[in-house]
Amino acid sequence: MKSLVFYESTGGNTEKVAQRISRTLDSIPGNETDLIKLSPEIEIDFFQYDLVFLGSPVVAALPTQSMMDCIKRHHKLYVKQDKIVPSSPLLPGKYGICFCTYAGPHIGMGEALPATMLMRSFLEHIGYSVLDQWHTLGEFHNRHDLSTQGRMGNILGRPNENDLLDIENRVKGVLNSLGETINKV
Ligand SMILES: Cc1cc2nc3c(=O)[nH]c(=O)nc-3n(C[C@H](O)[C@H](O)[C@H](O)COP(=O)(O)O)c2cc1C
Repeated sequence: MKSLVFYESTGGNTEKVAQRISRTLDSIPGNETDLIKLSPEIEIDFFQYDLVFLGSPVVAALPTQSMMDCIKRHHKLYVKQDKIVPSSPLLPGKYGICFCTYAGPHIGMGEALPATMLMRSFLEHIGYSVLDQWHTLGEFHNRHDLSTQGRMGNILGRPNENDLLDIENRVKGVLNSLGETINKV
């Protein structure tokens, strides 16, 4: 099975999650994983992967501007190549997970849902079955007030080892359920 972990991270929190996903994928025999951090003008061939993890920090309730630009660029390209077609038929054996880190200082997880939903929408447009959206708390860099007085309580130091263990267990769960399915397609 070939997997991609494609992510953006401006302060390192989302990178920790992406790295744990990648490391967990790599620990399972038979998996081949590409861990790719967003860079300007990067072009990814999403379709070469059976399992795609797409992640970003939450900024103003959405993915970062550069992640949204990247998604838009790929969307346009795939429309041009007739890879995005009406009704977006599901591609057999192609699965996705969207993830983010967020601080939720004002309204909690409600701030993160639009971000993962936007990434989910892209993967669904290209025919991937999106299995889940993962929202991990991440300290709000350089804003002590927003990391201690928000709805999620004291989130200094998050994501911590417990958060990353949660991610690791989730990845293992997905692999357990999907392993055979993907290898049979
Ligand atoms: C400019 C800016 C805007 C942010 N906006 C939000 C937001 O709207 N909602 C939220 O929950 N977190 C928000 N955050 C917090 C980040 O999503 C969170 O700290 C995240 O873990 C940072 O990830 P990174 O270290 O990978 O960049 C914001 C952070 C920054 C720097």
